[in-house]
Amino acid sequence: MKEAVQAKHLVHTYSPAGNGRRSLDDFSLTVMGGEFLAILGHNGCGKTTLARHLNALLAVQQGELTVACLDARNSANVWKIRQRAGMVFQNPDNQFVSSVIGEDLAFGPRNFGVPEQEIPRRIQQALETVGMSGYEKRSTHLLSGGQKQRIAIAGVLAAEPDILIFDEVTSMLDPEGRRDVLGTIGRLHARGRTVILISHDIEEAVGADRVALIHDGRLLAVGTPREMFTDADLMRRTGLTPPLPVRVYNDLRERGITLPFCPLTMEELEEALCR
Ligand SMILES: Nc1ncnc2c1ncn2[C@@H]1O[C@H](COP(=O)(O)OP(=O)(O)OP(=O)(O)O)[C@@H](O)[C@H]1O
Ligand SMILES: [Mg+2]
Repeated sequence: MKEAVQAKHLVHTYSPAGNGRRSLDDFSLTVMGGEFLAILGHNGCGKTTLARHLNALLAVQQGELTVACLDARNSANVWKIRQRAGMVFQNPDNQFVSSVIGEDLAFGPRNFGVPEQEIPRRIQQALETVGMSGYEKRSTHLLSGGQKQRIAIAGVLAAEPDILIFDEVTSMLDPEGRRDVLGTIGRLHARGRTVILISHDIEEAVGADRVALIHDGRLLAVGTPREMFTDADLMRRTGLTPPLPVRVYNDLRERGITLPFCPLTMEELEEALCR
């Protein structure tokens, strides 16, 4: 499996002329093709700054970055990188270019020079993937928050990227919309896409292959969700609250009750308690 992303010693400051506070600071990380990587960290730690590098929305100032084996420092690769690494943002309303869904979904492929006769197939396939087949003629205004976000994802899928970057895509959704969108993301990963999920919500990262913890623009640690979330010291340093089952495990242990293993999900907690 090839590397989908390779960042080496990335440094980014938004005001290079000024005092130059580093939003990314000597940041290195490799994401493997087909991997589901979650990125967590407190407000302002640099998650979106990193995401915008992966999609070539921000140019590399210092360090090295390859995305889908394309060197991001080479400006000739910008469009190729945007096609290979699609990004979905927090607010779906800001991502629509047309209120007619079919028109909106045609925009990306058209922009990337996909032949016109191929576009309807791309649209159909993207809608099918997000579970919204038959919505081509409908208006984005009449959709629920979760449906809007799924259409925004379909818009990115229509360009057929291998890497999908989700930046806080569930934070504006109600629980049902959130479930729908997370289900869609899980399906995309199961079908072989590389998924990079940025979130505030630690529970969303439990199902990831690996979790990267960012702190003040630096990579603090990367490992399996279990390695990251059961490390009390790491959790404290990132200012993150561990998932509920881990907190229950820790509380019980403080009271002298040690469960047979540290659970990450509610199902595992139930199993640990039953034993
Ligand atoms: N356009 C900008 N101009 C100047 N500074 C910025 C800009 N965007 C971000 N920053 C600063 O860079 C740092 C990292 O911001 P970034 O948005 O990457 O963090 P984040 O982890 O995505 O935060 P959040 O959880 O709030 O989305 C912050 O200190 C922020 O204030
Ligand atoms: Mg952000």
